[in-house]
Amino acid sequence: MEKIVSLSKRRGFIYQGSEIYGGLAGVYDFGPRGVELLKNIKHSWWKANVYDKENYYGLDSGMFKHPRTWEASGHVSGFSDPLAECKNCNTRIRVDKELAKIGVTADEKMSETAINDLFDTHRDKIKCPSCGKKDFSRSRAFNLLVKSNLGDFTSEGTEPVYLPGEACQGIYLDYKNIVDSMNPKIPFGVAQIGKAFRNEISPRNFLFRTREFEQADTQYFIKPNENKEAYERIKKERWQWYLSLGINEKKLRFKQHENLVFYAKDAWDIEYEFPGGFDEVEGIHDRTDYDLTQHQKFSGVDLRYTDPETVEKYVPWILETSMGMGRVFLAVLCDAYHEDQMDGETRVVLRLAPHLAPVKVAVSPLLKNKPELVAKAREVYALLKKEVPQIMWDDNGNIGKRYRRQDEIGTPFCVVIDFDTLGEKPELKDTITIRHRDTGEQERLPISELTNFVKTAII
Ligand code: GAP
Repeated sequence: MEKIVSLSKRRGFIYQGSEIYGGLAGVYDFGPRGVELLKNIKHSWWKANVYDKENYYGLDSGMFKHPRTWEASGHVSGFSDPLAECKNCNTRIRVDKELAKIGVTADEKMSETAINDLFDTHRDKIKCPSCGKKDFSRSRAFNLLVKSNLGDFTSEGTEPVYLPGEACQGIYLDYKNIVDSMNPKIPFGVAQIGKAFRNEISPRNFLFRTREFEQADTQYFIKPNENKEAYERIKKERWQWYLSLGINEKKLRFKQHENLVFYAKDAWDIEYEFPGGFDEVEGIHDRTDYDLTQHQKFSGVDLRYTDPETVEKYVPWILETSMGMGRVFLAVLCDAYHEDQMDGETRVVLRLAPHLAPVKVAVSPLLKNKPELVAKAREVYALLKKEVPQIMWDDNGNIGKRYRRQDEIGTPFCVVIDFDTLGEKPELKDTITIRHRDTGEQERLPISELTNFVKTAII
């Protein structure tokens, strides 16, 4: 993981948030390369969940929501982690995570008293991660919702307006609008990529557990009890999507939840094997009619669907997929990271699937002090840029150094304009050298074929 963190910073993928002020724990920024990789992952997700489907609708709901949203969803009363504080140095620990490290499972549904009983039994084995002492306060439920002061100056400002604890609530609030404006027939889905904020007690593992993150969610609205077949299909589709990113299938696995929340019929996670072991990237949840029933109760608005043929009315059940964008980003980076031998040296290379690579092609003149080479290379660059925006001009250092740098950011192709391009060997006039990232092999291609070659390779 240290190598990934260091490469991410060195090559402009990820920076610590607010670094010049000493950083803000659990917040990261996507740098120039990171933001392009992120866009490509999002595009691939949107394509699979909206464009390639007939009955899925895209949505981008506002982050701030009416305060009752989070009461209805259960977040105000029940969205908490068990927290204890080291009495010596005031470091806060997540009691369930520390218990898990010593092989003790604290069930999500346990009461504060039950967690404390468990903590008391095992506290002599738990050391403070900062000072090493074993003297902790009692565990208390710490609510993860992040409050804002939106509306504090108005008469409405009596209840706090929270930042979203999960992005999917926007889909439930707009469910009726979508039914009324788009007239979808059940079953249908709604897809959204949105921000979520959680006051995580111990943000950890780089992008894995952060306080600000994005979730890519689909909510599939179905007739009550028609969940089984659709749930299995959705699980398969989501698995296939990870393979479409080029992720090694051996590093993926499904894990079923043992302790279901009371309203859920089933829940599975897709896990990736990060350097520290397998951990959750996405949850696939069979949520019954819980969400819409709650919002119907709290808002007083009828959220039942009317079947256009039978005129039957019912609150739809929901099958949810919820993926952490930062976690997928991290899985993609970990999976692509390789060190291998090339030209007698060890190189770092990101073997990113070409459609995900932040830079598809680097265009270079062989020598930057030869104006005729630079002019021709600029021509090739401009031609390609018209059709493939994610390319870059690279004349920094010698060709070998340029290749190494491009390998580190995962650029699948490097194009070099040399004297043969200008016609030194007449039979090679108007051809370029194209170098392949994974093998280091080079081939000659007419400039007239370059754009098509690249477009075909990055689909
Ligand atoms: N709407 C369902 C929901 O929010 P969740 O299991 O709490 O379910 C879904 O979150 C996904 O969001 C997780 O699988 C994970 O990828 C991501 N996620 C959750 N908490 C996160 C955090 N603190 N940092 C980064 N990603 C997180």
